[in-house]
Formats: sequence, C-alpha cells, structure tokens
Amino acid sequence: MNVAEAVATRRSIRAFKSDPVSLETLRRVLDRARMAPSGCNFQPWEATVLTGEPLAALQEKMRRAAPQDPLEYSFSEPEQSPRHLARLKDLGATMYGAMGIRRDDADARSDFSNANIVSFGAPALLLCHFERFMGPPQWSDVGMWLQTIMLLLREEGLDSCPQEWMSLYARLIKEHIGVSDETHILFCGIAIGYRDPDAAVNTFERPRVPLDEQVRFIGFD
Ligand SMILES: Cc1cc2nc3c(=O)[nH]c(=O)nc-3n(C[C@H](O)[C@H](O)[C@H](O)COP(=O)(O)O)c2cc1C
Repeated sequence: MNVAEAVATRRSIRAFKSDPVSLETLRRVLDRARMAPSGCNFQPWEATVLTGEPLAALQEKMRRAAPQDPLEYSFSEPEQSPRHLARLKDLGATMYGAMGIRRDDADARSDFSNANIVSFGAPALLLCHFERFMGPPQWSDVGMWLQTIMLLLREEGLDSCPQEWMSLYARLIKEHIGVSDETHILFCGIAIGYRDPDAAVNTFERPRVPLDEQVRFIGFD
C-alpha cells in the first residue's frame, strides 16, 4: 500500500469486527510512528493502549458515570462559525442518514453517540495524553503523530476512529490507566481494529470542501 492509498482508504470506522489486534502489530506501528515530526523535536505525545479485560473494565466504568464537569477541554468552539457548524450538521445528516436514523430521532442519535463508550466495538483503544503545559504547536504535533499512526494502521490492514469523545471522561480514564490528572491532559482515544465492510456507517460518502476553497496557489504558471 502506498501513502496515497493509505490516505484514501483511511476513514473513521464506527463498526468494528471483534477480531483481536496483536501486540506485535501495534508495537510495529507505534515504533514506526516515532518518526513523526514535531516542532523542536519535542515529541510531546504519550499514549496508553488497552485491550481485553482492562479495556472492558474501563468501558464499564464509563457506562456507569456521567461526562465530567468541567470539561477537559472544549472541542466545540468552531460551532460559533456558521460555515463550520454547517459542516458538522452535514456530517450528522450524512452519517445518521446512512444508518436510517431520522433527524428528529434524538434517542437513536444519542444511543449511537454512546457507542463511543465501547469504541464502536473496536478490540483495542489507544488513549493519547500529554503534559498540560503543551501549547497549540505541540497539540498540532500530537495530531501529526496520530495521523501517522492511523496511516500505518492502514498498511497493516487495520482501521481506526479518533475519539475526542473520550475527553468527556478524562479524569475517570486517567485514574484507570494511572496517569496524573494534575500533570496530564487526556486528548483523545483512537479506536483500533478491523472494519465491518458491510456496515452502512462505514461506507457513506464523506463530504469535503473543494481544494480551491482551502488552498491558494500564488506565482505558478
Ligand atoms: C481529533 C479527532 C477527534 C475525533 N473524535 C471523534 C469522536 O469522538 N467520535 C466520532 O465518532 N468521531 C470522531 N472523529 C472523527 C471525525 O468525525 C471524522 O474524522 C470526520 O468526520 C471526517 O471523516 P473521516 O475521518 O471518515 O474522513 C474525530 C476526528 C478527529 C481528527
């Protein structure tokens, strides 16, 4: 698989098969991902990867708990901007539409959103955390590392779904995995496993802004 194929075939998978993911594969992917770039080579990222009983125990704790207040961080600021809010609504309409869930069926939407608790059935979950003093440039570095991981997973035939939803339970998660809440932010999870290729939620077309609305080219012939 070349890079373009890895980029083109990566998508956020929200229905996984139960097939386990081997430690050997995950170690290979994460070892290669160490070569992701970061400003000043700070390499701000850290992670904990769970599977099996420790993952099931965490999911059970989240199922019994409520989202934390205050939030670990806010991921909703762009909703103040009409064109970004429109993209969120577009995603919701396309995704729920593919599953046959109506716009006004709040219960069904909420049930599906709660499937985040079990990472949509993924057998492994990477939890990404880093020190609280990291600023916007380092958050960006962490994003590059995560995308590197997700592309390397494709090369192994594996799939993923990033989950900032996990930050709603950040304190609970950090306590479960033995990471200090005082010193560390819990950024997100990455659900890891093998996609169910037949699930409608894994096959809908994902809208994207046209290139010329995103990038300007200056000085070319
Ligand atoms: C940092 C980050 C966090 C995300 N968190 C969630 C999440 O909590 N739950 C979810 O279902 N999707 C989540 N997503 C997936 C996005 O909705 C998805 O990337 C976007 O709709 C584009 O679709 P694609 O990944 O299939 O290309 C997240 C994506 C990123 C990059």
